[in-house]
Amino acid sequence: AYVVTDNCINCKHTECVDICPADAFREGSNFLVIDPNECVDCGLCVPECPEEAIFAESELDDSDIHFVELNADLAVKWPEILESKEPLSDHQKWSGQPEKIEFLVS
Ligand code: F3S
Repeated sequence: AYVVTDNCINCKHTECVDICPADAFREGSNFLVIDPNECVDCGLCVPECPEEAIFAESELDDSDIHFVELNADLAVKWPEILESKEPLSDHQKWSGQPEKIEFLVS
């Protein structure tokens, strides 16, 4: 499956949602995740993300591997998102900031 990682947090552009043929994205207040049970491994969402937040599970660094479990866990808690919306208002401030995980609202 593909996995959403740290760069999404507090940006949440949501362009990834519109291209997903599997309706696999789930929405929290400041992060999106991919439901691994729905992802069809097409990879279409990867180039859509302006924050380069989405990776194939097999391509994750050791430091990001915990996002596999996090996406799976949050996907069962969070609702579907089927259409893109405006990014979070202060996305520019947060773009590219490291270690945003501490700000994740789960
Ligand atoms: Fe997040 Fe990128 Fe989608 S910032 S909401 S993974 S387009």
